[in-house]
Amino acid sequence: MRAVRYHDHGGPEVLTVDEIDRPQPAADELLVRVEAGAVNPVDTYFREGSYPPGDLPWITGSDVAGVVEETGADADFEAGDRVFATGLGNDDPGTCAEYVAVPDDLAATLPASVDFETGAAGALVGVTAWQSLVDACDLEPGERALVHGGNGGVGHVAVQLAAATGADVTTTAAPEYHDRLADLGAETVIDYAADDLEERIEAAGAPDAILDHRLDDYLGLDCRVAAFDADVAAIGNTDLEATFPNVPAARGKALTVHHVSMFNTPDVAAVLERLARLYERGDVEPVVDRTYDLADVADAQEDVLSESFLGKLVVVP
Ligand SMILES: NC(=O)c1ccc[n+]([C@@H]2O[C@H](COP(=O)([O-])OP(=O)(O)OC[C@H]3O[C@@H](n4cnc5c(N)ncnc54)[C@H](OP(=O)(O)O)[C@@H]3O)[C@@H](O)[C@H]2O)c1
Repeated sequence: MRAVRYHDHGGPEVLTVDEIDRPQPAADELLVRVEAGAVNPVDTYFREGSYPPGDLPWITGSDVAGVVEETGADADFEAGDRVFATGLGNDDPGTCAEYVAVPDDLAATLPASVDFETGAAGALVGVTAWQSLVDACDLEPGERALVHGGNGGVGHVAVQLAAATGADVTTTAAPEYHDRLADLGAETVIDYAADDLEERIEAAGAPDAILDHRLDDYLGLDCRVAAFDADVAAIGNTDLEATFPNVPAARGKALTVHHVSMFNTPDVAAVLERLARLYERGDVEPVVDRTYDLADVADAQEDVLSESFLGKLVVVP
């Protein structure tokens, strides 16, 4: 099968398309024929060696949607099942390949009405948005959520998830995305580059839950605009030492900051099952901005960091 691997850590140029044997599923694994994967910033961190994954060479990619080809003896699925999964590419080989072995506790059934590209697009970012807003922040109907960067992979699902929860949503994004984010359920959309960003967030209403992917930039603002007893879910690649001296306001607000890592989600499959229902009903619709072939995954990993888009970059083998 074809698989996109890095043999050394480094930039996108270390990725090569290799011809390798199909993996054999272990007892608790599914062998999935990959119909779609998605591209995430974390793929670039693993590739660069920022977090130690398994031995090199290593297959890149965290998200997958596809069809179960065969199962290990104890795996809780059947051949032919449509599934989506995330959390790969770290402890387990990644998803940018024609087949991938997936531990069954990282996978859930993908409803027939949700296409594979949408399933892959909504896996890692969906679990992250859920972990942040539902599990960490306990977001409830009638509360207000602030989602920084609403057009991003995580952001565009978080906006919809918060709205589906019955919360009022304030989000930030470049002006070109404002109309689409309003369509996705945001009540207030503000240009993150606006001089009066803080005043406009305050005017929309003090947020009870904040999803922050750039804590270095925004933790001070979060502390000032937050409602009393609010929660902040921090997901970005942040310089924590530089950030935390700046938060005396947090104490006065009884603010709680949760450091969320999708890869630490206690039960990925359970969250994916909930997301599958939301995707099936159309309450949350992950957006596919564009697709790439396996041969172009290096371009995709450059683009996810350097380009602006709404939604997700998806890989179709
Ligand atoms: N902890 C976890 O488990 C976890 C999980 C997923 C992601 N993450 C991290 O969260 C971050 C976002 O991930 P993603 O997949 O959503 O990435 P993404 O799709 O590349 O989205 C990044 C978003 O950030 C926005 N942005 C850029 N500059 C900004 C600014 N000054 N203020 C506010 N927003 C700004 C971008 O807007 P433009 O389009 O205008 O540039 C875009 O909407 C990454 O650092 C990623 O590693 C963490």
